[in-house]
Formats: sequence, structure tokens, C-alpha cells
Amino acid sequence: MSGSLRVVGLGPADAEWRTVEAEGALAEAQHVVGYHSYLARLPALPNATLHGSDNGDELARARHALELTESGARVVVVSGGDAGVFGMAAAVFEAVEQGPPSWRALDIAVLPGVTAMLAAAARLGAPLGNDFCAINLSDNLKPWSTIEKRLALAAQADFVIALYNPASRARSEQLQSAFELLRRHRTPSAIVVFARALGRAQEQLTITTLAEADPARADMQTLILIGNHTTRSIPRPAAAPWIYTPRRLDGAP
Ligand SMILES: C[S@@+](CC[C@H](N)C(=O)[O-])C[C@H]1O[C@@H](n2cnc3c(N)ncnc32)[C@H](O)[C@@H]1O
Repeated sequence: MSGSLRVVGLGPADAEWRTVEAEGALAEAQHVVGYHSYLARLPALPNATLHGSDNGDELARARHALELTESGARVVVVSGGDAGVFGMAAAVFEAVEQGPPSWRALDIAVLPGVTAMLAAAARLGAPLGNDFCAINLSDNLKPWSTIEKRLALAAQADFVIALYNPASRARSEQLQSAFELLRRHRTPSAIVVFARALGRAQEQLTITTLAEADPARADMQTLILIGNHTTRSIPRPAAAPWIYTPRRLDGAP
């Protein structure tokens, strides 16, 4: 019997933002492997065994899923948002690359999900209407000096910037350093948005400026968007303003 492995992005919240393809893979799974809190967000799956593990154990989790797949089972690995954006998909392929040659012949597919950056953009209007980039602010797997270099170059290139993993219990000062660095390259009035717990009951969107951005507003459930020099707001009566970045830049033909 040949097994299959589906690496599934669950979206940033509950089923509303989950694809039909992802729901189908979950319904057919015999084993679901993932971080405890993602498994807790799943619907009841009576035919599946759930294998929860702690955050930070991604490679071990990926190897476990590949072993189950090789034994002939239908396996799903879950990730929040999109599995390919700072998620489990890369861990699975790291395990495949380092693992036995037989893992390269397994039936593996990555099923896309709504990443947090796109959920935030949709709530706000169209802040990603021009060129943008995403930077993971965690220095668990890369040196802080690389993060600083990427932030500086992205700011100089006038990208709209999405910051994932801006802070955690162990990392609170880095976001302050990141804002200070960005202030050297962007005007103080640049729009900054803290998008917290998108799609969940505690969802909170805070629209501010780079001059006023307070790092204390961010936690592990927050995505930060920093506008480029054209990102602007459209005031609305009795509602938060729309935030958008025009498609056209100065000097365009
Ligand atoms: C390890 S990354 C995983 C990203 C995920 N794979 C995705 O595509 O959204 C975790 C970070 O994603 C962002 N994030 C994930 N879900 C979110 C949500 N519902 N609201 C706001 N930010 C979220 C936060 O920046 C969080 O620290």
C-alpha cells in the first residue's frame, strides 16, 4: 500500500479561511501531525490519529510524518496560514533532503493556505497593491545581522514590508531595534499596522505611524505591515480608514 503526505496550510484562523482542498485532505487523513494549538483548531476527525507536538520541534515532526507515509498511511502535516510561508513545508523538504533516498519517491504535495499577510491586507483594504516583501523577525534560524540588513534594504527599496514573528516572550527588544532601523530610511508618517489575532475573536487592528509605533503592541499573534512612501488611508465615517497602496508609482510611463 502506498502512502501520501499532504502539507496543509490551515489559514490564519478557523474554517472560514480554509480551502476546500485542505478540508478534503483532512477528511481523508489517517494521521494528522502538527503543533498542538493547530490541531486544537481542527474539526472532529473521527478517522484520524492526531500527533501533537510542541512548537520548535519542526524537523522531528516532519520526519515522523515521512515515516508514517512510508509505512503506507495517508498523512497530513498542518501549518498555520500557508505551510510554505515560514511554516512546515520547508521543514518537510529539509527532512526529505537529509533522509533516506526512499523518501524522495513518496507521494508528497503542498496544499496552499491563506497566509497572515494576505488576511491582514484584506481586512485593511489593499496595502499590498504595489511591490511588497515579507520578513520573519525571528532570529532562531538566522543571524540578527542578516535581519537588519534585509530590513534596511527593503526599506531603502521602498517595499511595503510585512513582519512575521515580530515578538515573543523571549524576544521583545528586537522589534524596537527594527523600528529604529526603519526610521532611518522611512518618513515618520509612514503607515504602520499591527494586525493581531486575525480571524479570531480577539482580532485587533491598530493603524499608526512609524514615529508612533509602539513595539509593546506586538506579540506572537501579531503581523505588522509597514507601508511604502505611497501607502495612504481613506477616512470613512464611523469606521476605520481603508489602507491602500496605489498601483502606480511616480515616474511610471
Ligand atoms: C511561524 S509564523 C507562521 C506563518 C504562517 N505560516 C502564515 O502563513 O501565516 C507565525 C507568525 O505568523 C503571523 N500570524 C499567523 N497567524 C496570524 C493571525 N491569525 N493574526 C496575525 N498574525 C498571524 C504572526 O506574525 C506570527 O508570529
